[in-house]
Amino acid sequence: MAEVQKRFGVIGYPIKHSMSAFMHNAVFKELGLPYSYKKFEVAPEKLGEFVNGEGAKLDGFNATIPHKVALLKYMDEIDDLARLIGAVNTVKIWHEKMEDGNERIRKKGFNTDAIACIRVLKENGIDAKGLRVLLLGAGGAARGIAFQLALSGADLSIYNRTKERAEELIKEIKSKTGKEIKLIDDEKLKEEIGNSDLLINCTSVGMHPKVDEMPIPADYLHEKLVVMDIVYNPVKTKLLKTAEEKGCKTIDGVGMLVHQGAEALRIWLGIEPPIETMRKAVIENLRG
Ligand code: ATR
Repeated sequence: MAEVQKRFGVIGYPIKHSMSAFMHNAVFKELGLPYSYKKFEVAPEKLGEFVNGEGAKLDGFNATIPHKVALLKYMDEIDDLARLIGAVNTVKIWHEKMEDGNERIRKKGFNTDAIACIRVLKENGIDAKGLRVLLLGAGGAARGIAFQLALSGADLSIYNRTKERAEELIKEIKSKTGKEIKLIDDEKLKEEIGNSDLLINCTSVGMHPKVDEMPIPADYLHEKLVVMDIVYNPVKTKLLKTAEEKGCKTIDGVGMLVHQGAEALRIWLGIEPPIETMRKAVIENLRG
């Protein structure tokens, strides 16, 4: 066996059910790269300790719930889009030679959720411009998608369990991009879904192990709606299952996972990743 030359990983809390390691290791294997990728369970209060300790020994890592926003403050550099979005899900790490001959470790934060969202919509023949989109959620995962959709000219609305959080995100997007987004509360939710073309679940509702939960009442769905979920474990969430039964077109969360990972590989290694290998690795391991 060749010695492992580059090391990557993913941090989250919890992280046990993440498919990222299967997906990235499948790419390294297929391309014959002596690299590795592993999961790190990092509690929120240990984030700084990880980033400056074990994490700094890696060549890069991804971040998932609940670290995407908190990571920003630990970066030496932040990519423009990640700064605008206010969330980092991909960190690139390298060693920089200083004038005195010493080396220092540098970390740069990126957000690859935004581009992944556009790629997934494109794969499904959907153009965001002018599309009436209702986004559920206002956390770290919702941010990238919300900013990207607003910038792409979607007619966007946001609903979140904690209304104030959605209100804050909407205000922030307005002040940074000038784009208007509608705030949806419980009373307006049903009507808004009735008037939407696309519904995207960016909350963690329905994720393993609470697979019987869904973020909206089933009877709010209608057949003209396209329903997309960013939860990928299980692939067919209760929301997607119910939407299918209502005759809706559905888009599962595997595409988002694959495309955010592919973009991370482009950033870390400058390679064009084998998308189908990544998709296959995720699906096979989810079945397992
Ligand atoms: P992430 O980085 O994955 O977005 P997060 O910042 O913790 O993680 O956000 C999780 C999102 O799922 C939030 O929008 C959260 O709603 P709140 O802002 O009200 O917490 C939403 N969420 C999580 N559990 C939920 C539940 N049981 N019902 C409704 N929304 C939920």
